[in-house]
Parts: sequence; structure tokens; C-alpha cells
Amino acid sequence: YEDPPKICCLGAGYVGGPTMTVMAKKCPEIKVTVCDLNERRIAAWNSSALPIYEPGLQEVVEEARGRNLFFSTDIESAIRECTIIFVSVPTPTKKSGIGAGEAADLTYWELAARQIAAVCNASENKMPKIIVEKSTVPVKTADAMAAVMAAACKGTDFQVLSNPEFLAEGTAIDDLFKPDRVLVGGPQTPQGLAAIECLANVYRKWVPTERVLTTNLWSAELSKLTANAFLAQRISSINSISALCEVTGADVSEVGHAIGVDSRIGPKFFKASVGFGGSCFQKDILNLVYLCRSFGLPEVAEYWHQVIVMNDWQKRRFANAMVATMFNTVSGKRIAILGFAFKKDTGDTRESPAIDVCKALSEERAKLAIYDPKVSREQYYEDLGKEAMEKIEIDEDPYVACAGAHAIAVITEWDVFKTLDYQKIFNSMSKPAFIFDGRNILDHRKLSEIGFTVWAVGKCMKKVLDTEGSPSP
Ligand code: NAI
Repeated sequence: YEDPPKICCLGAGYVGGPTMTVMAKKCPEIKVTVCDLNERRIAAWNSSALPIYEPGLQEVVEEARGRNLFFSTDIESAIRECTIIFVSVPTPTKKSGIGAGEAADLTYWELAARQIAAVCNASENKMPKIIVEKSTVPVKTADAMAAVMAAACKGTDFQVLSNPEFLAEGTAIDDLFKPDRVLVGGPQTPQGLAAIECLANVYRKWVPTERVLTTNLWSAELSKLTANAFLAQRISSINSISALCEVTGADVSEVGHAIGVDSRIGPKFFKASVGFGGSCFQKDILNLVYLCRSFGLPEVAEYWHQVIVMNDWQKRRFANAMVATMFNTVSGKRIAILGFAFKKDTGDTRESPAIDVCKALSEERAKLAIYDPKVSREQYYEDLGKEAMEKIEIDEDPYVACAGAHAIAVITEWDVFKTLDYQKIFNSMSKPAFIFDGRNILDHRKLSEIGFTVWAVGKCMKKVLDTEGSPSP
């Protein structure tokens, strides 16, 4: 293969943008082009207002952009000139047809494969290509990609590799600088192994060799689905225990800590919450469930499906607890929603539990006032719908959102929420003033002392109130 290999990526989203930016920074001798069909997105990548928010991203983009990092809508030229072509397009859950609600929708992905094949076929230059699945895809997708390429493109040697992405939004740049591992799967043939080496060598420029794992194709594809399933399962597991804590007087933070110090279990991903969100966990588990069913393993499918069932229940439970605690009605009551993104340090709201909670409270005819430091106004319209938005207030300031409210619900764990002046907020609220901590990030004792009625995930409300001397609910 050409050395150094020119690299391009189809899809300039949450994955394609940051991964290629870091690759360009770490490999200044390699030309990296990030392409997208969406002209607005590319224009934003070429401006000072990037299309996505990630801590540290702006600086890295500014360092590499124009040097060896380029954002372009000219997909054909990029495919023609590059040796390594990443495909990082959406693979959402299918909305209709066979497997609707579970299977991955591979429309974008197949279009990208056909586009690569068409350009290679028409090109006079028959240099070999390495096509890299960056998108999370069902196991065996590489077979389909290879079949599309073989049928539509003659004379070009191409290898299809799987290189799933493990970054987490909100910490993407750190994750990409120092990944726990980079996984490269490919065909175990001489040509396949050479392609694996070529891609692995790019990563080895900044990732220690022992962290660059190479496997066969199917292991790499399945590892990504499995990793997300295990991560989401931990959240659903601790959330299931949070419900038991609330009725028994155990405290989920104490239980989480006590089990997490066991080195066989480990401490991470044990925070009880209003439920997990994000574009990946739910869709990847549903995809896994669908795969298991299609391979004749209904018991395995059912086992993993429970992770989603528990998460849906947790989101509903939170909204129900709010209504029940506020004397079984929130109709006409102003409720401040603090945080709308699915996690802190991102403006991404895909599958955010805030959407479910806001919808449930709107159905109960509450008057919502939402504050999030990063979510754009248009995003609220997209997530909640135009009609609902006519009755919802979006605020630029958390104190404004809370003023006059009967209750506050903390949905995203933004650090700024920890240091708000809760005395000032309490003074501005209707009484009794309720606070529902969906992330357990606040100082509940202090809030009780101020006079708030506190409800927190996995904490026994009666116990909090009794020990703080406030009236029992
Ligand atoms: P995204 O929606 O932010 O970005 C995808 C981009 O691909 C869009 O800008 C779209 O316009 C573009 N696109 C679609 N078809 C195209 C084509 N034929 N040519 C060029 N561009 C095209 O999606 P995101 O979040 O970056 O996810 C991409 C994939 O990565 C998905 O499979 C996802 O499961 C996976 N993934 C996502 C992670 C995340 O944290 N968001 C983490 C790990 C994997």
C-alpha cells in the first residue's frame, strides 16, 4: 500500500469528525479528508462554529485544519485519491419493514458502499483500497460490503476491515488520544492481513502497540455490539437496584461503591440515574437482540432485551415519582428541567431521557421551563415537536428557569448544576419547593436544610427527610 496512505472518511458526524481530526493531528504526514453529503455540516466544520461540541475539539481542529485535515463535500475525489476509506455513516434502528424497531437500518451504509464501488469502477487509477467500517454494524456486514464492491467494481483490489469506534461523547478527544484499545478486524488472508497491518500502523503512530488489537472480521464487529451491551447492562443493573434502595432504606451510592471496590466488578459505570440515553446503547442492543433472534437464539435475545425494558421503566418511574411526590398532580405547575442533553459535556440529545421525562410531564399538563448549556433551540423543536414547544419555555439561564417553579428536575449531570446558589433558587420558587435529582449530583442534606423537599434516585426519601428533620411526605 501507498506509504503514507491518504485517508478519507465518509460521514462528518460525532464519530467521523473527532476521530479523523485526532488522526490528522497525530499523523501530520498523512492527508486526511472528512466528507459529508450535508453541505451545512461541512461548512460548519470549516468555520469557527463547529457542528458538534466536544471539550478540546476546537483546538485540535484549528491546529490541523488546512495543514493535513480537510472537510469537503467532494466525496468522489476523496474516494478516488485515498487508500484508506473510513465509512462512518448513521446506522439507526429500522423504523419500518422487516425487523422494524430492532434491526439496523443499513440504507446509508449500503449507499456509501455503492458510491465507493462506482467511483472505483469509473476511475482509471486502480490502486488498491482499504474500506474501513467505522459505523457500528451487525455482524457479517463486511460480507455484504465486499459483495457490493465485488459486483460493482472490477479491477480494483479492495479489502474490507472492521475498526469499530469506542469513544464516548463528552470525552471523545481524551478517548481518542489515549484509547483503552483500538480494534482492527479483517480477513485472515495474506491480502487481508496486509490491510490490517496498514491500518494498525496508522494507529501505532500514537497508540502503544499492545493496545492495537487485531482480530478476524466477525470478532471485531461483534465486540462493538457486545461492549455497548455490557456498558448499558451495568447501568440497568444499578438502576434496578436503585428502585429497591428507595423502598428499603439502602442508599444506591453506598451500594454502588461497596460493590465497585471489588476488583472483579470494578467501580465504573455504577451511577444510578434517570436512565441511559445516547444514540448508541439502545440501538446497538436492539441490533444485538435482532441478530440473536435471526440466528435462532431467542433466549439470548430475551436476556439482552431486558436491559432496554429496565431502562424504559426507569425513565417512566422517574416521571411517575415526580407526579406522585407533588400530590399526584403537576397540572398547571411550572417545572424547571435542568439539562436536556443525554449526558454532560455534549449538546447531543439523541435518545436523551430528558425527552421522555418532558413528554410525560407535558402529558400531565405541567408547564416546563428548560435550561441546558449546550442544546440548540432548533433541537428542542425536533425532539419535542412544534405543538408541545408552544407551551414550553426555553431559558438561557438556570435561575430564570427555576424562578416561580414548583419543582426542579435535574436530568443531565452538568457540573454547573452542582454549584448553583440553591438558597437563591429556593427563595424564588413556589412552596413547597421540590427538587428531583435524576443524577445524584447535588448535596441532598444541604438542600433539605434550605427547605427543599428532595427526591433522589436510589435514596429513600423518607429517610432523607427524617434525618434532616423535615416533614415526612
Ligand atoms: P452522525 O449522524 O453524527 O454522522 C453521520 C454523518 O454521515 C452525517 O453527517 C450524514 O450526513 C453523513 N452521511 C450519511 N451518508 C453519507 C454518505 N453516503 N457519504 C458521506 N456522508 C454521509 O452519526 P455518528 O454519531 O457519527 O455515528 C456514526 C456511526 O458511528 C454509527 O454507526 C454509530 O453507531 C457509530 N458510533 C457512534 C458513536 C457516538 O458516540 N456517536 C460511538 C461509536 C460508534
